[in-house]
Amino acid sequence: MKIAFLACDSTLPGAVDRRVDAFEHDFQVAALRPALRDHDAMLVELDWRAAESDFGDCDAAIIGTTWDYEDQWDAFIARLEWLEARMPVFNSSELVKWNIDKSYLRSIETKGGTIIPTQWVDRPTITNINDAMAQFDTDRLVVKKQIGAGARDQILVERDAHIDENALFASPAMLQPFLPQIRSEGEYSFIFVDGAFSHALIKRPQTGDYRIQSAYGGTESAVEPQQSDLDAAKSILTLLPDQSPLYARIDMLRGPDGNLLLMEAELIEPYLYPQQGPDLGRMLADAIIRRLA
Ligand SMILES: Nc1ncnc2c1ncn2[C@@H]1O[C@H](COP(=O)(O)OP(=O)(O)O)[C@@H](O)[C@H]1O
Ligand SMILES: [Mg+2]
Repeated sequence: MKIAFLACDSTLPGAVDRRVDAFEHDFQVAALRPALRDHDAMLVELDWRAAESDFGDCDAAIIGTTWDYEDQWDAFIARLEWLEARMPVFNSSELVKWNIDKSYLRSIETKGGTIIPTQWVDRPTITNINDAMAQFDTDRLVVKKQIGAGARDQILVERDAHIDENALFASPAMLQPFLPQIRSEGEYSFIFVDGAFSHALIKRPQTGDYRIQSAYGGTESAVEPQQSDLDAAKSILTLLPDQSPLYARIDMLRGPDGNLLLMEAELIEPYLYPQQGPDLGRMLADAIIRRLA
């Protein structure tokens, strides 16, 4: 059996301008490849834009490190659908479409999930920034794109800071109170494979920053979660359209009342932190093989 691991031209080994966080690609492949080999399955790393013929003898595709589709997500979806007509794709294009726009958080909230308090606006303006500060009774807001990843274009706005409205991005936005727990405790990730809990970790920003991504100097460490925190993450899983996707990463941050709030439910191409979950490769490989049987 041959399984395609979808990547992009800036994460693939040997890339000319390889991303600074492409080591995460290598870790993920290193976790999965030997575990698949134990099932006599071969993992091949392929650019999601590769020629159709390159996928000719693949039996399944896993969305891996396709971290450049943001500005071309229609082409990305088209490629997933093309693949899906020929082989199983994990996670499915349907789930990807649901997850690409962070407005899915509203549907989770409607079903009873607790998310970080959010105002949804067509585009950020000084007026709605001031309104959100008043509504959330806060001096600091995080303004982010509804369709976005890797904290790109995201801004942290302080009360009374001079803001050039024209410099704000002009696309649908989310306004959230800045939760200081990102610096004091960190952001949790709970990794689930086929609905089963694999491992958890805490991601912390570099001193002076608040973004936990490794591209900004963030670091992570494995954590044994409190039962109540794990239960909070599990309860989010039950609110997804598919309750046992091949993989899911539930990102949460503690709110002022001590409960974890949902930041994101990552179902598209999340980094699954194999370094913190030594069993991850085996769990993923077993689940893939089970699904292909
Ligand atoms: N409300 C918030 N309070 C504090 N930090 C935040 C908040 N929202 C986002 N962040 C920081 O910004 C990062 C990116 O935000 P996130 O919503 O995860 O978007 P994405 O990862 O898709 O770019 C988070 O990992 C966290 O470090
Ligand atoms: Mg995130």
